[in-house]
Amino acid sequence: MKHIIAFAGSNSSESINKQLATYAAGLVDEVETTILDLNDFELPLFGVDLEKKIGIPENAHNFLNQIRNADGIILSLAEHNGAYSTAFKNLFDWMSRAEQKTFMGKPMLLMAASPGGRGGASVLAIAKDRFPRHNAEIVATFSLPNFKENFNEGKVTNSSLNSELLEAVNAFHDAIFKSELKGTKTDI
Ligand SMILES: Cc1cc2nc3c(=O)[nH]c(=O)nc-3n(C[C@H](O)[C@H](O)[C@H](O)COP(=O)(O)O)c2cc1C
Repeated sequence: MKHIIAFAGSNSSESINKQLATYAAGLVDEVETTILDLNDFELPLFGVDLEKKIGIPENAHNFLNQIRNADGIILSLAEHNGAYSTAFKNLFDWMSRAEQKTFMGKPMLLMAASPGGRGGASVLAIAKDRFPRHNAEIVATFSLPNFKENFNEGKVTNSSLNSELLEAVNAFHDAIFKSELKGTKTDI
């Protein structure tokens, strides 16, 4: 069975992005899902001096292994001052030192949620520009603005936003299963 990972670019215990990533993952048919939490992959603050001293910490490798073993990635980024949260950037920096092709060509549904009206547009733009340089295959994006108004009891409540998300989820699902079809054709 295909297996996906879903996580937030946040270390908040009440992360709205984790809530959105969890909801989106539940919409993907025919896959097994693992929800990851950055708090389970604690890492020291990246620095080149520390890297020289201790090498790359095990948790950066552990997270890379989660990516390596997945058929697809759902990632919803928190926006802090128009960019990645410190927790996500720190993980990304450590992982990129071990593996420049950090996202390993896995289909990715890239999202952002925020309590404000721009729905994390700035961090989404940064990631859309940067992630492909780390071998991300971004197959769909989704932005959820005004989280409190548009999300309740684990679901997107605004119907047009929910339709938009379903379309993104379908594209993600197709990309995951398309690679299986490709594999089958090559085998024949
Ligand atoms: C330091 C800091 C900076 C923030 N900057 C932004 C911002 O630039 N744009 C935005 O939409 N929200 C901003 N916010 C609000 C976050 O979007 C909000 O805290 C959201 O819940 C973060 O996602 P999370 O719950 O998944 O961690 C900021 C919050 C913090 C703590």
